[in-house]
Amino acid sequence: MADKIKQNSHVLFYYNRSKKWLVRITRGDALHTHIGVLRHSDAIGKEYGSRLTTNKSKYVYLLRPTLYDYTMKLQHGTQIVYPKELGYIVARAGIGGGQKVLEVGTGSGSLTSFVANVVRPRGHVYSFDVDPKFMKIAQKNIDRAGVSKYVTLQNLDIKELDVTDDADSDSGATAPELPVSGADVALIDVGDPWTVLPQVRRMLRGSGCVFAVCPTMNQLEKLSASLVENEFTDIESTELILRNIEARQGKTRHSFQGIGHTTYLCFARKAYFERDADVYGVATTDHVVVDDDGDDDGDDGSDGRGSDGDNPSATAGVTDTVRAKSSAKSSAKTGRTAKKPDPPKSAKAGRTASPKRSPASRRAAPAKRTKAA
Ligand SMILES: C[S@@+](CC[C@H](N)C(=O)[O-])C[C@H]1O[C@@H](n2cnc3c(N)ncnc32)[C@H](O)[C@@H]1O
Repeated sequence: MADKIKQNSHVLFYYNRSKKWLVRITRGDALHTHIGVLRHSDAIGKEYGSRLTTNKSKYVYLLRPTLYDYTMKLQHGTQIVYPKELGYIVARAGIGGGQKVLEVGTGSGSLTSFVANVVRPRGHVYSFDVDPKFMKIAQKNIDRAGVSKYVTLQNLDIKELDVTDDADSDSGATAPELPVSGADVALIDVGDPWTVLPQVRRMLRGSGCVFAVCPTMNQLEKLSASLVENEFTDIESTELILRNIEARQGKTRHSFQGIGHTTYLCFARKAYFERDADVYGVATTDHVVVDDDGDDDGDDGSDGRGSDGDNPSATAGVTDTVRAKSSAKSSAKTGRTAKKPDPPKSAKAGRTASPKRSPASRRAAPAKRTKAA
């Protein structure tokens, strides 16, 4: 049976790419536009894909809204994550059906809605925001996108969560003081993402992916350093550029209406820099790794890919800073700068510095505790 438009159906009234309206059909209402008037009741009973004619004789197509349409038309309380980034985030972080996703910074709920639609029906998004004003807007947008069943919103400043205890709850599975545990993926969209990394780390499962949205390069730099400090690996920073093409017979060219810079993205995965100690039976913490090739980059000096060699941000500068700190701390504490035995190459990949416990996690202030999801 054909899918007909009814009272309360959502419909995209589509005139052209820049003139389209997302409406909820309400008998008796009318949409007044520069191309004429459209009465909602004229759409009732019509099949999605059919068209109406305005009183100025313009055709308007009745399209079923997609999540893209909801995203582009959602009410903005904050900056949002746009579809050009949404798809990449899902692909790169491997977000799929049934996953548990943690989000810090609900904002207007654009990213929340998109990801909830990907993980449903068995997965769930746990999203946190400090500002109730934005949460109200987000709730509306999430409802409109039809995914509220798969989202839990909570008013909480993630920075305030206490992660100072040294209990071995870093596995992401046993952290009852945190609102989420064992998340597959964490999404961060706050102005200072590095401040919530210790908390996010505790809520993630081992190797879980974290994605942070960073509008400026300065934020990227600071975040990359902090990711290393908090024992994340596979760190990658990206900017996505999207250009539309005007495809017309004999005069196809790129559009002059480009989408400029929206944001940078930073991706990483939770690792355990100290876990190799178990394998070799050697205490690896607080030591600076010095290779046979004379440098301290953890590789053999041949192809530069040994230890995050394809990730300059984690090796050049950033890692050195952490190592310097770790080394200084070590010398002050133990009075030694012992050299760790060089493990086999396969075990070295992805490992950078070995700070014992992230300094950032010690900084976090104690605060309220909530029940784990
Ligand atoms: C840019 S918006 C997020 C936009 C969202 N990604 C979207 O696509 O609609 C940033 C949000 O982070 C929230 N925020 C900032 N710091 C926070 C913190 N420490 N914990 C929780 N939320 C925070 C702000 O209140 C704001 O709503």
